[in-house]
Amino acid sequence: MSRPLLSLAGVTKRFGGVTAVDGVELLGMAGQVHGLIGPNGAGKSTLIGCITGVNRINAGEIWLGDERIDALPVHRRARLGIGRTFQKIRLPAQLTVYEAVASGLAASWFARGGRGWLHAFTSLRAPPIAQPVHAALEAAGIEDIAEVRVASVPYGRRHFVELARTLIAQPKVLFLDEPATGMTADERQRFSRQVRDVAARGRLVVLVEHDLTLVGELCDQVTVIEQGRRIFTGTPGEAQRDAAVIRAYLGTMSFVAPEVPPPAQSPPQPPAPIPGEAAT
Ligand SMILES: Nc1ncnc2c1ncn2[C@@H]1O[C@H](COP(=O)(O)OP(=O)(O)O)[C@@H](O)[C@H]1O
Ligand SMILES: [Mg+2]
Repeated sequence: MSRPLLSLAGVTKRFGGVTAVDGVELLGMAGQVHGLIGPNGAGKSTLIGCITGVNRINAGEIWLGDERIDALPVHRRARLGIGRTFQKIRLPAQLTVYEAVASGLAASWFARGGRGWLHAFTSLRAPPIAQPVHAALEAAGIEDIAEVRVASVPYGRRHFVELARTLIAQPKVLFLDEPATGMTADERQRFSRQVRDVAARGRLVVLVEHDLTLVGELCDQVTVIEQGRRIFTGTPGEAQRDAAVIRAYLGTMSFVAPEVPPPAQSPPQPPAPIPGEAAT
């Protein structure tokens, strides 16, 4: 078995008297999509904050490959390959999609330090910028809207722009926080495909999502959190049958989209009599 890309051991975060994350273990492999699910207030966002670095942990260890990262500031973790999208999309509405994605590149150059950031003063259309921007637009499946202003992009599709802007920094681990919010069924399908591709290129994607159909479709593994504690890790199919998961979170919900019953067929009718023909 290959080594995990992300490993958490005993991760604990307290806010005053509240233990929001309580001794969580998690292993994520490159190439995987790992779901993080649980009721509201379970500690999912806090746990993501512990990994990205906005939350300092009180106990435990977080490793990215063979590097321990739990004491590093946010920008150093970003530089090492931790990326995230936000539930509340924060894209500058007046920019075009191309410019918004390019701004992600400038941010990553600044984060990396060194001389690369000098590129930030060259034209946005110069090859060192255009090339990675186009690669990111393609990876997110939105090359067709590159020149559209963010303000005119439908809300659901802005999640794809967020994805492109995060991908341009070439993260090794990518956290997606409720990306299906506001997506149409068609957008959700496309998003699902793009995320699969992103993982297939050797990244670990961690998906926080309440849309269980999307979780069931996408995730190789799910970790279920309840009141800060990990209560389950396994496939969505195994989660579906786990008594503790059903009690804490699933209830009657399912990872499989409800079957749409075929339209009711009425039995074949005898042909209507042709007016004038005598009924026998
Ligand atoms: N900055 C904070 N200060 C105090 N309590 C917090 C803070 N952030 C989260 N919490 C508490 O931690 C618990 C977990 O919250 P959260 O991580 O947002 O859950 P989830 O994302 O699973 O809905 C909740 O009880 C919440 O009130
Ligand atoms: Mg949350």
